[in-house]
Amino acid sequence: MNGIKLDLKKSGISQKTIMEYKEEVENIHKDLHNRSSDEKDFVGWLELPTNYDKKEFERIKKAAQKIKKESDILLVIGIGGSYLGARAVIEALTSTFYNMLPEKERKYPQILYAGNNLSPNYINELIEYIGDKDFSVNVISKSGTTTEPAIAFRIFREILENKYGIEEARSRIYATTDKEKGALKTLADKEGYEEFVVPDNIGGRYSVLTAVGLLPIATAGIDIDKLMEGARIAQNRYNDPNLKYNECYQYAVARNILYKLYKNTEILVNYEPKMHYFTEWWKQLFGESEGKEEKGIFPAGVDFTTDLHSMGQYIQEGRRNLFETVININKPKSDITVQTDEDNLDGLNYLSGKTLDYINKKAMEGTIEAHVSGDVPNIKITMDKLDEINMGELIYFFEKACSVSGMILGINPFDQPGVEKYKKNMFHLLEKPGY
Ligand code: PA5
Repeated sequence: MNGIKLDLKKSGISQKTIMEYKEEVENIHKDLHNRSSDEKDFVGWLELPTNYDKKEFERIKKAAQKIKKESDILLVIGIGGSYLGARAVIEALTSTFYNMLPEKERKYPQILYAGNNLSPNYINELIEYIGDKDFSVNVISKSGTTTEPAIAFRIFREILENKYGIEEARSRIYATTDKEKGALKTLADKEGYEEFVVPDNIGGRYSVLTAVGLLPIATAGIDIDKLMEGARIAQNRYNDPNLKYNECYQYAVARNILYKLYKNTEILVNYEPKMHYFTEWWKQLFGESEGKEEKGIFPAGVDFTTDLHSMGQYIQEGRRNLFETVININKPKSDITVQTDEDNLDGLNYLSGKTLDYINKKAMEGTIEAHVSGDVPNIKITMDKLDEINMGELIYFFEKACSVSGMILGINPFDQPGVEKYKKNMFHLLEKPGY
């Protein structure tokens, strides 16, 4: 199977109803693509797979090699759009126990994260864990002024300087930030850190395929050429203004139709724990893009079958304002077969000879049937396997679907005015000058 596939058969929405949006979607398509020529608009991600800084891309690969040579750990300091995309791809494409593997088996540095919370426990336990190990830091902040990563960076910069001396510490720090402004940019220029750019016209949650995501992803040994290739395939595939042939737009339309039917919570479902952080990335993408003007579908996420044993009851019989979007991965990276047991005391011999993936898929099919019959409409997105190409495609699919969906909803999917409110209150309480 090539590419990702959308299945709306169990959504309760007919093709005819979808096609009622044909004209509206065509206009949105035009509007979106016209905006991509405006440097000041936040749609730089739209043509990013074909229009990116090739020299910087090569520098990212070189930096990843240098980090690999010098360090056991890359500490990624960033929050929201400045770390979730990297973490989503790394966790999807590396071993679930990647960070725990012995160095020889891992082959690439461990990737650890900081600056995405304000917990002293987290920071102290991280410092303790890093201990004597060699590490480098990639500090990522588009604004360069976000409190959580700024505090973490101050702490780990000092640790690096104490451990390696000022000069070597500088060569172990990689700053990904705005090309001309912000506190991090000023600091990076002054200290001479290697710098990577978050393009002006790409917002945090759309930035995974820029240096923001690519440096940590490449450092984890993932092929970023293939990731971009997957995104390029999607850029081409989802460029058709005709709703009839564009599954990305059909997904955007379907969720808006469901929203109008009071299905105002969308649950992204996976049956693969490696996709947990992909869901976190997706939640930010849709939540921050659409939750405005008292509108928007609330993006939730579950890892099945794990969460069937915690959230399954609610989904089956709680408030009927839900719909599910299931990410189905056709082929697992590896499989395992249930063996026959002579005594059969656990009663599992009916599964003898069946693979775990087969059982997982049956759990998925059974759950979809149960939830659909309980009035939880289902959208299914199928990909062949977890690899760079498919991940690149899936990322682009959701980015474009999110922007089109937000535009159908009538909000601006590229700003996030509400995020500033908590910061102002926090700064006031912390007596920051000017607040
Ligand atoms: O999508 C967004 O814009 C946000 O989630 C930001 O990525 C997040 O707040 C971090 O901002 P910054 O990169 O400026 O530190």
